[in-house]
Amino acid sequence: MKKSSIHQPLENIEHWEEDLIKRYPDPDTNGKEKEDFRNYEDSDRAESVKEFYRLNHIFQTYDFVSKKEAGFLEFNRKEMSIWEAVDFLNTLVDDSDPDIDLDQLQHLLQTSEAIRADGHPDWFVLTGFLHDVGKVLCLFGEPQWAVVGDTFPVGCKFSDKIVHANYFADNPDSTNPKYNTKYGIYSPNCGLDNVKMSWGHDEYLYQIMKDYLPEPALYIIRYHSFYAQHRENEYSHLMNEKDVEMFEWVKKFNPYDLYTKAPVKPDVKALKPYYQELVKKYLPKTLKF
Ligand SMILES: [Fe+2]
Ligand SMILES: [Fe+2]
Repeated sequence: MKKSSIHQPLENIEHWEEDLIKRYPDPDTNGKEKEDFRNYEDSDRAESVKEFYRLNHIFQTYDFVSKKEAGFLEFNRKEMSIWEAVDFLNTLVDDSDPDIDLDQLQHLLQTSEAIRADGHPDWFVLTGFLHDVGKVLCLFGEPQWAVVGDTFPVGCKFSDKIVHANYFADNPDSTNPKYNTKYGIYSPNCGLDNVKMSWGHDEYLYQIMKDYLPEPALYIIRYHSFYAQHRENEYSHLMNEKDVEMFEWVKKFNPYDLYTKAPVKPDVKALKPYYQELVKKYLPKTLKF
């Protein structure tokens, strides 16, 4: 992946997730992961994460999301099997240090294997394995701030609990009376399906998977980066009963995403047959991206 340029401030796209662990330390280890990440307190890295959020918060407007949806939800870029998509995704970390950084497949497998080890249903395991495949957006030339990072509703007031919320001051929607009230264009408890979220890998993969996976799996994929709700409860006023019920799964999933990044790499070869069967059970041979 291209190193820091104006629209790609993160040297590695995963530095965003490391920052998340700093914001939401694992309660079971009292934040001990800090020691597990070399360069964790690296101030360059902290600065690049801030710059990343600055761009994200300025450019993710209602109109921007609408344009991205119109473009990407045509699914006319590439037709791939899940395996081809994961291989494609893995080209993202070609230039990172293989001793430190896990590749994308390893992150997916660590997440899904932890879910499997806890005896959860197979669709939940599959969700862990798939949840970040939408990051292929990076390989279609999208800037980092339109692929990863916390997601949040657009079309209504930005919560000040969203990370680095001060940067929203320069988002044009913040001064647009149509969008800058508590409900904006939405109505109380209208349901998240009627709410436009900032654009990134979550919504994109949800749209690809929506005909194939059970509802809780789709919620996990669609809202796993919506920290302002699943951690901060800032948007309950837009949620309906179904959303509230389904967010229990989103919350259950989150620790598997954040706290399973162990330095021990999963044995891809040994695990592949199990995942091949699982993918076959739920998904068609190829999917349109
Ligand atoms: Fe993700
Ligand atoms: Fe993830």
